[in-house]
Amino acid sequence: MISAKAKVCGVMAYPVEHSLSPLMHNFFAGEMGIDFVYVPFKVQTECVEDAVKGAFALNLAGMNVTVPHKQRVIPWVKEMDPAAKAIGAVNTLVRTEDGFKGYNTDAGGLSRAMGEFGMTIEGKDWILIGAGGAAKAAAYVLGSRDANTVVILNRDEYKARELADETNRRFGREFVTAAALNDWRKLPDREWQAIQTTSVGMYPHGGQAPVEDPAFYRNISRAMDVIYTPARTRFALLVEEAGGQAAGGLDMLIYQGAEAFQLWNPGTVIPEEVIKKARILMRETLERQKGT
Ligand code: ATR
Repeated sequence: MISAKAKVCGVMAYPVEHSLSPLMHNFFAGEMGIDFVYVPFKVQTECVEDAVKGAFALNLAGMNVTVPHKQRVIPWVKEMDPAAKAIGAVNTLVRTEDGFKGYNTDAGGLSRAMGEFGMTIEGKDWILIGAGGAAKAAAYVLGSRDANTVVILNRDEYKARELADETNRRFGREFVTAAALNDWRKLPDREWQAIQTTSVGMYPHGGQAPVEDPAFYRNISRAMDVIYTPARTRFALLVEEAGGQAAGGLDMLIYQGAEAFQLWNPGTVIPEEVIKKARILMRETLERQKGT
């Protein structure tokens, strides 16, 4: 039941139609018995400022922000959580008295999902594919959890270099290098773990991977794709075909969502039981969507 006192939150994205966040947050609210409703908002790039101000005017308790707005909302928040500031991307807005505070729950969500998948970050060598908002959260996780080395591969090499420089500066050690995605053949021949953060292979372009050559995948022992639609990306498939293990982005989505939900509902802790049920519900939904 949604009463007239319900806390209202939502997600702003473009496109937004395939987001599983409304399903997830409304499920959390039902399970936790909270008077709360979460709705999708399709927001064009040129409307980001109006959307943030409008959400505040409409008394929304918070918002999730996703592709392609995670960096664009920053000028319109009143305050930044220190981690979100360090990452340079915001995926969660939390209402305060005079405006929204920007948080990044992607980093915590990714970190937890990587742990669940059995990935050790400390002391390992990493390939980070992409240099956008999601890559920034991933670089922050790798830096804070003492990765040995990181190579950022991006189509636009300049952006990869910028993120590498920023990350080295932030953590005070030279452990990140950058290269153009096309130059992957120059990577040292050693065991890698990888995080895929580009939108390549995301619905409706499910048949694509950022690198098509199977040779790229030979040295990747474990990989996580942050994409969750489709549940199994071509990238994940290529990793597995080369003998590695791969996970999709559903767990990261759920954990970042749980963290955001807890920020909007202080004092609430979503138990593992509810997380498990949400995972089943979302998997089933993804399965059904496959045919649409
Ligand atoms: P997000 O917030 O999800 O990270 P983003 O900031 O728009 O979204 O970043 C998208 C990422 O996907 C970028 O790394 C982008 O590469 P460029 O920086 O070169 O644009 C990458 N990407 C998008 N389409 C791509 C494509 N067709 N081939 C390779 N990389 C692509």
